[in-house]
Amino acid sequence: MREEIINIKNEAYAQIMDAKSTSELEELKILYLGRSGKLNLLTKRIKEVPSEERKEVGMLLNESKNAITSLLSERRNSLKESAREWFDATIPGIKPKIGHLHLVTQAIEEISRTFEQIGFVRVRYPEVEWDWYAFEGLNMPSGHPARDEWETFFVDNPTHSKYGQTVLTPHTSSGQLREMERVKVPPIRMINIAKCYRRQIDTSHVPMFHQFEGLVIDKGISIAHLKGTLDYFARNFFGKERKTRLRPFHFQFTEPSFEVDVTCGVCGGRGCKLCKGGWLELGGAGMVHPVVLKNGGIDPTVYSGFAFGWGVERTYMMKSGLSIPDIRVLYSSDLGFLRQF
Ligand code: FA5
Repeated sequence: MREEIINIKNEAYAQIMDAKSTSELEELKILYLGRSGKLNLLTKRIKEVPSEERKEVGMLLNESKNAITSLLSERRNSLKESAREWFDATIPGIKPKIGHLHLVTQAIEEISRTFEQIGFVRVRYPEVEWDWYAFEGLNMPSGHPARDEWETFFVDNPTHSKYGQTVLTPHTSSGQLREMERVKVPPIRMINIAKCYRRQIDTSHVPMFHQFEGLVIDKGISIAHLKGTLDYFARNFFGKERKTRLRPFHFQFTEPSFEVDVTCGVCGGRGCKLCKGGWLELGGAGMVHPVVLKNGGIDPTVYSGFAFGWGVERTYMMKSGLSIPDIRVLYSSDLGFLRQF
């Protein structure tokens, strides 16, 4: 009888595991555990077992009934679970919330792409820089009043005999000399986009901002090349109708120097509340000063070049027509604002 019990138990296990519905399980319960079920029929025949084995067979019968009962209930639960887990695959899914690039990063990528298309090479130079690259080598000797404009953070580091003090670079123009040293023999077509630091904070200034700096050096480079490059950028970045103009200005490291304006995208250059006169100011530009070329190891009697440097944040705000009352909001981690871009 022991063998019969084990066979019935195995058979019940296989069928229970195979069952596809709770009603099938109900039928199996009756078949194996019901009053006239297979195990109860064996119970009725227990008196046929020799008396010395009866106790052991009785225990085996009970264990088998208990095991089948608990397997039935486990299987019932798992069938109910899977019924609950069924889902309609045709219902549109819930989109997971994903972030996106900060708008300054988007602007940097677009500016790089625009200049790379006409052969400029994207570079980045140190943010913690020597005075030589930021000022002295750019024709602003120590004590020169022109330095005041850059409201510089000085780093408390030992002074170098040639390169001077360490500063947080206040403009990307410090990359000009580094690029001349890297390339050595022109042509140079650099677009340097990096963080800059100045001790300035108000509605239109942040202490950490980004600039992009173009530098082109070759034989026979003239203001016409500068104007052509600026017009190309204005058309590609701001829109086909936009034009630039050069206004005389002064920088120590360019001669002649200019402020660059772009026609206003709102009024098309006729004059409106935003631009007051049809033009928006982009930033500085000019022909590289011969002293700067010399400091970079380039012969100014053979080569000439132009440079321009503008703020990424302000240039992007002009493109998008974004009129934000306070530039600091770009760096305030205000998701309500940033999610719009
Ligand atoms: C310069 O920094 C020159 N190096 C630009 C240059 C390069 C001239 C090459 C000639 C040749 P300026 O200080 O004007 O110039 O700064 C250029 C632009 O940087 C500004 O027009 C503005 O858009 C941006 N900028 C300057 N300071 C800040 C600031 N604190 N916060 C945000 N943007 C700033």
